[in-house]
Amino acid sequence: MALINENYLKLKAGYLFPEIGRRTRAFAQAHPEAKIIRLGIGDVVKALPKPVVRAMKAAAEELAHDETFRGYPPEQGYDFLLQAVVDNEYRPRGVEILPEEVFISDSSKCDSANIQEVFGLDNVIALTDPVYPVYCDSNVIAGRTGLPDEQGRYAGMVYLPCTAENGFVPDLPREHVDIIYLCSPNNPTGAVMTRQALEQWVEFARRKRAIILFDAAYESYITDPEIPHSIYEIPGAREVAIELRSYSKTAGFTGTRCAFTVVPKELVAYTRSGDAASVHPIWYRRQTTKFNGVAYVVQRGAEASYSPQGKKAVGKLIKYYLANAKYMRQQLGACGYTVYGGVNAPYLWLRTPEGKTSWEFFDLLLNQANVVGTPGAGFGAAGEGYLRLSAFNHREAIEEAMARIARL
Ligand code: MLT
Repeated sequence: MALINENYLKLKAGYLFPEIGRRTRAFAQAHPEAKIIRLGIGDVVKALPKPVVRAMKAAAEELAHDETFRGYPPEQGYDFLLQAVVDNEYRPRGVEILPEEVFISDSSKCDSANIQEVFGLDNVIALTDPVYPVYCDSNVIAGRTGLPDEQGRYAGMVYLPCTAENGFVPDLPREHVDIIYLCSPNNPTGAVMTRQALEQWVEFARRKRAIILFDAAYESYITDPEIPHSIYEIPGAREVAIELRSYSKTAGFTGTRCAFTVVPKELVAYTRSGDAASVHPIWYRRQTTKFNGVAYVVQRGAEASYSPQGKKAVGKLIKYYLANAKYMRQQLGACGYTVYGGVNAPYLWLRTPEGKTSWEFFDLLLNQANVVGTPGAGFGAAGEGYLRLSAFNHREAIEEAMARIARL
C-alpha cells in the first residue's frame, strides 16, 4: 500500500495565487464583457531589456554549432555569471562574496522552498505574519509542523506579527527559534528593514546560533539610500545568513527564470551532538542531486543585465514600476484608503475599508471594479483586513484601475 505524504493534507487550501486565478477565471467566464485588470500576482508586463535579448540570441546561435555547443551547465552556474554577481551585486556595496558561494538557480521561489531540506526536522521555524506562503508551506510539507488552527497558524511554528504598530517589521521572538525567514523589501507588505533592525536580527542569530534565510528578491526597488540591499552589509551576517536574489522583478525574468542564492563558507548548522557542520557543501550536495542548472541562454541573458546598457535598461524598468507604485499610493490615499508600502517595493498594502475582510474586499474589487488584488489573509492571519496590490502592470492599466477604484 502506497502511503501519501500526509503533511500535504495539513495544507489549508490551494496555493494562494492559483486560487486567485481560479476565482478570476470563474468571474471572467460569467462576465465575458468585463475588462479585468490584474494587480494580483506580482508578474512583470514589460518586455525583456534589449541587451538581455541580444545576449540570449547570440547564446542561442552558439548552441547551433558543434564548436560552441554547450551541454549540461556547471552545477553552480557559469563562471561568467557567478563573477558578474559578485562584481555587480556585492563588491560595489563593500561586501566580499566569493563566486563559489553563489548558486545560480531557476528561482528564489524554488530556493526558498528547497533550502529547508538541508536543516533538521526538529528546527523551530520563525515566520513573519503575513508571509510569502512558500516559506510556510514548504516547512509544513517537510513535516515540521502540526495542524493549523482556525486562523491557519500551524502548531510548532513561531509567528512574528508584522502590523502597522511595528511598521510591519518583526520584533525579535521571545520563544526559542532556530531558522528565521526574513524578506526585505517585504512581500507582501512592501516594508523595508532598516540597518538597525537587521543588525538586531544578525546579533540575535549569532547569539542563538540560529540561521536567517534572507529573501532580497526585491532589493532593486529600494529607493531610500539608508536601507541595506544585502544582509551581508551587516558585519557578522556571513556566519548566520543565506541570501536569496532573483532576476524576475529586476530584468523581467518571471517567464525566463533565473535567480541565485548565496551560502557563505562560514555558515554552520549543528549536528545533534553539537558539532558544527558547514552548510555550503550540503546545499551543493542537495543541488547537484536534485537540480541540473539554468540554461546557458538564460545565464547569458542574466549576465547581460549587468552590462552598461543592461543596467540602464533594468534601471528604467524598475523606475517604471516604482512610478506606478507612487501613482497608486497617491490615488488610493486621495480616495481615503490607508496605504503602506509602494515606496521601496513594488507592492502596496492596503487597509480594507469599512471593516471588510480581505476576501470580501477582494470580491468587491473583482465584481465592481474588475480589478484583481491579493487578499492579505492569504499571507497569514495578521494579513486579515489588508489587500495587496501589485504595481506590475502597464501605466494605462494602473490609471484605469485607480479610476475604477475611485468610483466605487
Ligand atoms: C508574488 O506575487 O508574491 C510573487 O510574484 C510570487 C513569486 O514571486 O513567486
